[in-house]
Amino acid sequence: MAFSASAAALLALPFPSSSSDDSDEFKPLSAPTVPEPVPASPPPPQQRRQRQWLNLERDCNVEMKALARAGDVDEVVDLFAELRRRFAAGAGVAPNVLCYNTLLSALADAGRVQEVGGVFEEMREWGVAPNVSTLNILVKVHAFRASNFEAAYDVIRQMQGLGVEPDVGTYSTLITGLCRAGRLDEAWGLLESMVEEGCLPMVHTYTPIVQGYCREGRIHEAMELMDGMERVGCPPNVVTYNVLIRALCDHARFDEVEQVLVDSSTKGWKPTVVTYNTYMHGLCKEGMVNEALKQLDVMRAEGLDPTAFTLSIILNCLCHNSMISEAISYLERSTALNLCAGVVAYNTVMSRLCDMGRWPGVLKLMTDMIKKG
Ligand SMILES: *[C@@H]1O[C@H](CO)[C@@H](O)[C@H](O)[C@H]1NC(C)=O
Repeated sequence: MAFSASAAALLALPFPSSSSDDSDEFKPLSAPTVPEPVPASPPPPQQRRQRQWLNLERDCNVEMKALARAGDVDEVVDLFAELRRRFAAGAGVAPNVLCYNTLLSALADAGRVQEVGGVFEEMREWGVAPNVSTLNILVKVHAFRASNFEAAYDVIRQMQGLGVEPDVGTYSTLITGLCRAGRLDEAWGLLESMVEEGCLPMVHTYTPIVQGYCREGRIHEAMELMDGMERVGCPPNVVTYNVLIRALCDHARFDEVEQVLVDSSTKGWKPTVVTYNTYMHGLCKEGMVNEALKQLDVMRAEGLDPTAFTLSIILNCLCHNSMISEAISYLERSTALNLCAGVVAYNTVMSRLCDMGRWPGVLKLMTDMIKKG
């Protein structure tokens, strides 16, 4: 077992243990939920014990979350196993649902679908009641990782049997999965049935359907759906609009992009750097360099700082339209223009210069780049 230093430290803490039995063996479910009180003199050791267990559980959960964020899934698994072993031996119960959810979520994110199923079974065997987060983790695994919607529906039914009802997160996850799999009609059907069940959709429930339409080139339907969202009091947000703008750009419908941007203030959303990057990228693909450069100005006037990606869009655009001297000029003024010129930006222009055989230019940029560190 290779614990991180902090995990090891956590487990090195004096664990509360029952005085009678400290064995590694799992105890049957009927075992007491609290460690046996020691026959020591100062009274309520029982409550103190219980608090110690709760603290340990909480600290381990925090640590497992940190490990999961860092991508150390094996360590999450090991730490959980150790925690469960101590719990089984000392308290005769399994760790709580929050710890299980952390483990399940880490496994799910790592795509370890089989293990997710196993852990869920074990959780049931130990009588740990799942909550709606557990359900959502399982549904996500089936819908995203395995595109196995039957399994996802099964889990929902199984959970309902345990008194856990799906929430907006459950439905949104399923709808996203269905849309990714190109099953738009089914996604719509699910949206309708969730409303029937009295569960209100949110922006992120609708947006995957908008995206699904856009991907199929059904932009008109996407826009109608967005109108519908406004009508039901769940207006599209910047993420939804970015999806629409990308689709409009893919079809070179730039007038409509302009209109969408003009309407943004009355519709109550604000374009971001992603919005403008999407737009500029679309314009550049159509060779509309000057229009793209104009959007760069618009974006800056809006107080939005271009990112490294913005610069790379612009430089690629200039290079592909034989405006290499403009590209060099942008690169040279990048610091003054508050554009972040990284290695990628320099590489873009240098490789174009190489293609053209303009070696002195390449060398000059190389020197600039090194000078800038
Ligand atoms: C279910 O578990 C999650 C953590 O995994 C927690 O954030 C949430 O509060 C729990 N819900 C209930 C109702 O206990």
